[in-house]
Amino acid sequence: MKTGKKSYGTITIAVLSLALIAGTAFIMSPCNDLPTIPDTRQSNVRDNYLNYCAGCHGENLEKFNKSEWMYGDNDDAAFKSIKYGREDIGMPAFELTFTDEQIRDMATYTRTAVSKDQLKQGAAITLEKVVKSKKQNFVIDTVVTGLKVPWGMEFLPNGDMLIAEREGILYRFSKGKLTEIKGLPDIMAKGQGGLLDLRLHPDYGENGWLYFSFSQPSESNPREGCTAIMRARLSDNSLVDKEMIFDGVPDSNRGHHWGCKLQFDKQGYLWFGIGDRGNRDVNPQTVKNDCGKIHRIHDNGSIPEDNPFVNTRGAKPSIYSYGHRNPQGTTMHPETGEIWESEHGPKGGDELNLIEAGKNYGWPVISYGINYNGTKFTDITEKEGMEQPVIQWTPSIAPCGMTFVDSDRYPGWKNNILIGSLRFKYLERVELDGRKVTDQEKLLEGIGRVRNVEMGPEGFIYVAMEQPGFIVKLLPLN
Ligand code: HEC
Repeated sequence: MKTGKKSYGTITIAVLSLALIAGTAFIMSPCNDLPTIPDTRQSNVRDNYLNYCAGCHGENLEKFNKSEWMYGDNDDAAFKSIKYGREDIGMPAFELTFTDEQIRDMATYTRTAVSKDQLKQGAAITLEKVVKSKKQNFVIDTVVTGLKVPWGMEFLPNGDMLIAEREGILYRFSKGKLTEIKGLPDIMAKGQGGLLDLRLHPDYGENGWLYFSFSQPSESNPREGCTAIMRARLSDNSLVDKEMIFDGVPDSNRGHHWGCKLQFDKQGYLWFGIGDRGNRDVNPQTVKNDCGKIHRIHDNGSIPEDNPFVNTRGAKPSIYSYGHRNPQGTTMHPETGEIWESEHGPKGGDELNLIEAGKNYGWPVISYGINYNGTKFTDITEKEGMEQPVIQWTPSIAPCGMTFVDSDRYPGWKNNILIGSLRFKYLERVELDGRKVTDQEKLLEGIGRVRNVEMGPEGFIYVAMEQPGFIVKLLPLN
């Protein structure tokens, strides 16, 4: 939990950022869709508090739990503080945001709503310093804290965020609060496995399907498992109508290389990758099992007729490409509709690939990596009939979730790929011209092990870090 414990020493920077954002919003609106100060007239005092105040004063009004009020223990003083701000001390003015009546309500709220038992800290929104990068400046806004390993992030139409914790918990994050969603199947939280990615059906509004990938224990031996995908509907905070969409084979007692990010494409196909499950010398180069592959299926789990191996005897028909080690990011180019994938190499040789039908991506026959202990498992990095990565990272960055920036909010990054680095704790930005990489940049250096990055509602970028687990939103300053 970051905000509550934060001293007000850093508040000046926060206020500056706030002023900048507010300033940007006022100058730019309404002629484009940059952040604007929303109409607050309809929302209640608690919602306004969470939106505008909780970042500095704590979700549960922690900072108002005090015996002495700086500017007087009465509603008038609080009203003045909120309306005109207390510039010297870092309290911004809200006279442009709220009506006098709202400010009065809020003054009363800050003075009465706090109670000792509310000291339990929840997630809050923090405005931090302005980050300058090559083509886009932004502010980091901490949205969720108190997580462990947030693997999957998905956004419901009402703005609630769903978060998959790898250990096997599904959360709904709404109005600053995490609530557990019940009804997940048995999940094998082992090694790199657990509850993995989340994705809404492209027609979620009509059919309500939520897809999730997870490490599924085998019925005969719960110590073994493989990656599986289910879909279900949400009924309040429970999963109902569960359907198994994909059940990977073979099961294995290994704890690593499960994949598995989910991505729908423009035609409605569901794409995902499964890792080699630690069986390097068998799985990736055969099309007879599901491991070490990128798969493409219909939304109900059935097989597209034109998948490349549907007519290959003994092959798993969901396979789209093979020769992969541990596919993590799986994402679609917003314009071309191509599927791009990032995968973990061993020691070195992490890859960014453009996925093409039926192709062999070479693992472990060709690789830029070596064994973790420094020995070699291959002498070659290229071979006829095997694909070259678009990028290979040596040393390994441990690429994780990735996304294309498909919104107009970050003009400097339009259609760039963002890729999380677990190992070096940053977000990598990759600029592409077709298959050619034209620029690479490290963002958010040192922020933490970046587990995932997604485009969220209204075109904002959300980045999830692990251990400690928290989620930030990047607010562009244009
Ligand atoms: C950027 C950080 C920040 C934001 C956002 C912010 N405040 Fe403050 N506020 C402060 C600081 C710093 C103080 C002075 C120290 C203190 O009272 O804790 C303060 C003081 C106050 C005080 C006076 C407290 C006293 O002791 O007299 C009130 C009332 C108040 N804020 C209400 C609000 C309300 C309501 C909101 C949301 C509409 C809000 N603040 C948003 C930073 C912030």
